[in-house]
Amino acid sequence: MDIEVLNGLLRPKAIAVIGASNAPGKIGYTVVKNLIDSNYQGDIYPINPGSDEILGLKAYPSVLDVPGDIDAAAVVVPAKYVPDVTAQCGQKGVKGLIIIASGFSEVGFTDLEERVVNTAREHGMRVLGPNIVGILSNSDSCNASFAPFLPLPGKAALVSQSGALLIAMDAATYTRRVGFDKLVSIGNMSDVNFADMVEWLGQDENTACISLYIEGLKNGPKFIQAARDAGKPIIALKSGVSAHGAAAAASHTGSLAGSGQVYDAAFQQAGVVRAADLNNLFDRTLALSLQPPMQGDNLLIVTNGGGVGVLATDAAERYGLPLRFAPEDVQEELKKHMPAFGSAKNPVDLTGMAGMDWYQGSTRYAFAHDWVDGLVVLYCETAMTDPVEIAQGIKQAIDESGITDKPVVVSFVGGEQSAEARRWLVEHGIPAYDAPDMAINAIAALREYARNTAEATTPFQRHADVDEAKAREIIAKVRAENSTSLTEVESKVIFEAYGLPVATTRLATSEDEAVKTAEAIGYPVVMKIMSPDILHKSDAGGVKVDIQDEASVREAYTTILANAKAYKADAHILGIAIQEMAPWGTEVILGSIADPTFGPTVMFGLGGIFVEILKDVTFRVAPVSADQGMTMINAIKGAPILKGARGEEPGDLQALSEVLSRYSQMIHELGDEIQESDANPVIVYPEGKGVKVVDARIILKEK
Ligand code: ACO
Repeated sequence: MDIEVLNGLLRPKAIAVIGASNAPGKIGYTVVKNLIDSNYQGDIYPINPGSDEILGLKAYPSVLDVPGDIDAAAVVVPAKYVPDVTAQCGQKGVKGLIIIASGFSEVGFTDLEERVVNTAREHGMRVLGPNIVGILSNSDSCNASFAPFLPLPGKAALVSQSGALLIAMDAATYTRRVGFDKLVSIGNMSDVNFADMVEWLGQDENTACISLYIEGLKNGPKFIQAARDAGKPIIALKSGVSAHGAAAAASHTGSLAGSGQVYDAAFQQAGVVRAADLNNLFDRTLALSLQPPMQGDNLLIVTNGGGVGVLATDAAERYGLPLRFAPEDVQEELKKHMPAFGSAKNPVDLTGMAGMDWYQGSTRYAFAHDWVDGLVVLYCETAMTDPVEIAQGIKQAIDESGITDKPVVVSFVGGEQSAEARRWLVEHGIPAYDAPDMAINAIAALREYARNTAEATTPFQRHADVDEAKAREIIAKVRAENSTSLTEVESKVIFEAYGLPVATTRLATSEDEAVKTAEAIGYPVVMKIMSPDILHKSDAGGVKVDIQDEASVREAYTTILANAKAYKADAHILGIAIQEMAPWGTEVILGSIADPTFGPTVMFGLGGIFVEILKDVTFRVAPVSADQGMTMINAIKGAPILKGARGEEPGDLQALSEVLSRYSQMIHELGDEIQESDANPVIVYPEGKGVKVVDARIILKEK
């Protein structure tokens, strides 16, 4: 990232408005007026060949006529003029273009857009847009957009792919009382994309939290890296998460991977927190921009009302922070701040009698206690208390506790006075909401941020004992045969090359060879038809299990061939695979897809009906470390089954997480070749006894 160029684009000291106009109602008029009205301190150069003066400022026919340097140019001339204007800006030494004009790739004029970007690149310029509203920055008093005014000042930055949404959110910052320093419209992302913005905002001193409205990312892996490096909270509202295109995917994994699930996984790996909807984006932005992350799971709730306490307790469970009872010493101390009929467990119910002293005493003590990782204070408006005074008391207690590395979030439920108290709290750095579940959701965001950050910083250690050349040799052989579908035997050779524990499988092309192979592997064996034309082997009567001796091998050989012929007379039969019969254990499935945004992506779930019906699976963008593999195992609902539910022996999760990591390395390193793959089933044995890949399949990319 060229910081200096992006600084010029995003924090310009001099701006030209190309297409500036004296005609109210034109965007070229509004942008100049907005710059003036926002009290922009840099130089403003209106550019218009037909005017000498615009809104009281001297206007120039072209940027080439401007006497001073220009950092950024807001471009508000019709699309067809933009290539020429871009060339002139390049000649002038402008650093970046804010192309507000529409009429480019969003309506199919991709060539026009490419011409503009290529010209800009030739001159070392960066391009924001086209098809955007512009940029707004409180710290620079700069409204270089046609949004009505600068947002409510604050510490967050919003980057939005939708211009209309950005305008709507701009105004809503005042009604929602969520402050932003910057709003950046990113539009078609012809050049500057989310990854660039996250990288730049990561080093921006005025940005404490980065909020994103994303329709689609352009370069998934680059975004993940930028987000990991940003070192500050990022919250994303992702739209368009339906499973479009997934139905077209050939494999099991493909049909399970709605694009939403891969985005979910990628965000988690990147440390990014998700927002469920627009309201939630505001709510979570407020918390993430004002409070530190929550480093542990111990949430304490202090309330003056049982009802809101129960609502908050339910919400805590819903948002992944189930409450635990406070330890004895905490309960003993808290009892001093409530009547005898209060409850010190958790939620801590100070009762409706609670006045400022009890709120202050309990909050000050609890917030400072080591057991407490995060605090939510709830208040229901009563006739006995003044909400603003209670709010001030809470803030004072938090300050007096001396603790600054834990989060506190508040909910005041009531009328106008409570609203005033909430405003006061937010102005003093404490996120405050009008419903208890919103406060819990907000603190859950701070917990998610800490959890995701921990996952995002787990490094992947490449397994060095792999034979990539061998894997590529097999792939080259398959391609030479004009095929993209590897047989089970070929797939397993590649799996083995990556150190994956496959059930030994060899191809036999005659009955005698089948007997020899079975004896070499050792009885019992499994025999399976190998044909590129028969994918569902069992349906074709092409699988026989538990074969114990030579006679049975010979009989199975004849029967399987006959069944295959009956199933598909013209099927090309490669032979019959003889496979070690793996003892049974818990069935899991590993799969992979080549995600269009994030590239090779690994899937994990329990096998059998769990995957078919319950779709209990989880995804991660490859590669993943063994630790992340363990996180994947723990992420599925069926994890307790693998850990030994109902007296079963716990499975060898150490081996399974290692297998996930190696498999992810395989699909990552061979990502230029592999379209999809499956290991299904994989059998997990009890602790210390390992894992076995029973069946494997690889489909190559069409080239
Ligand atoms: N250099 C400088 N000025 C020029 C040039 C040039 N090469 N060519 C023309 N101009 C002047 C024009 O003479 C005019 O000035 P005037 O009012 O003094 O005559 C001014 O630039 C603007 O040109 P117009 O032809 O009048 O164009 P208009 O203002 O109608 O539209 C615009 C231009 C706004 C860029 C339009 O083409 C457009 O793209 N509108 C959509 C923008 C948009 O919505 N973007 C955000 C999308 S996100 C969302 O949905 C909210």
